[in-house]
Amino acid sequence: MREKLQKIREEALCALTGAKGAAELEELRVKYLGKKGELTAILKQMGGLSAEERPKMGALANEVRSAIEESLAEAKEAAQRLALEAKLEAEALDVTIPGEKPELGHKHPMYIALDEMKDIFIGMGFEVLEGPEIEESVYNFDRLNTDEGHPARDWGDTFYFTEDSTLLLRTQTSGMQVHAMETHELPIRIVAPGRVFRKDEVDATHSPMFHQIEGLVIDKGVTMADLKGTLNTVIEGLYGKGTKTRFRPHHFPFTEPSCEVDVQCHECGGVGCRVCKGEGWIELLGAGMVHPKVLKMSGIDPEVYSGWAFGFGLERLAMRRFNISDMRLIFENDVRFLKQF
Ligand code: DAH
Repeated sequence: MREKLQKIREEALCALTGAKGAAELEELRVKYLGKKGELTAILKQMGGLSAEERPKMGALANEVRSAIEESLAEAKEAAQRLALEAKLEAEALDVTIPGEKPELGHKHPMYIALDEMKDIFIGMGFEVLEGPEIEESVYNFDRLNTDEGHPARDWGDTFYFTEDSTLLLRTQTSGMQVHAMETHELPIRIVAPGRVFRKDEVDATHSPMFHQIEGLVIDKGVTMADLKGTLNTVIEGLYGKGTKTRFRPHHFPFTEPSCEVDVQCHECGGVGCRVCKGEGWIELLGAGMVHPKVLKMSGIDPEVYSGWAFGFGLERLAMRRFNISDMRLIFENDVRFLKQF
């Protein structure tokens, strides 16, 4: 029996050192220490031993059990450690591998120009408004003193949604003047940038969708001199101190008097060249004193209040600001183009 016990110890310890993984260790535990295991089988034979031998074999059997149990515990711990190490290695993050840089976008040149302009107006105490691109004719035309039958309302120029031409894609941001008069207490000082839509063919200077920025000031005692001073400040802010402007008489239904504002050609300094088509000046915006009828239609007394308004074309502004020669470049969104600004 002594030899058998020794053999079990040797075999068990040997098997445990070579065992791989928790499942195999459990198998070995059952094999040697389980109820039907080899050690238990031997212990069952103790009854046949002499009274002298029995305690000695008992002691030896206990010793063998302890040795196997100890070795089993060690092997289990080693297996767990190995499993953890393998897991860590598999999940390891190599922070030295060069990363993949996400391709960052670039601010569009037109929005660079718009943001500069917003900054200037905000600095003068203006509020920036946004309004609907799908607009009612009432706002786009009627309350801007542009009656039914006016050529601006022509079906050939405007995208209408309804047969009765009451709903349309706004053709100008000027409707925001009416929205502002409706929603704001006096005095009013707002700018409103946004998209506008017209049935134009695409070419170097036209697009069926483009952007405008509208401005409106209404207060007591507001004059054309304020309009000139404000616009000159904005234009100098955009194009540099000393930039020359020219105010020409014009006609718009919602302003009286009306004007168009030109800026001296940056290319030739006013002499006349290809960029300004020989004019020496480049047209920048429309403006004027808000028509008394327009004020009245929005419930403002033109005897007490006066105001002025303007509308810039944003693409044109950016094109001049960055010397871009073709409007199509602004909408194509080719990153090679956009990255230059
Ligand atoms: N809405 C006009 C256009 O699209 C531009 C304009 C002219 C706006 C005069 C104004 C203004 O506010 O006073 O051509």
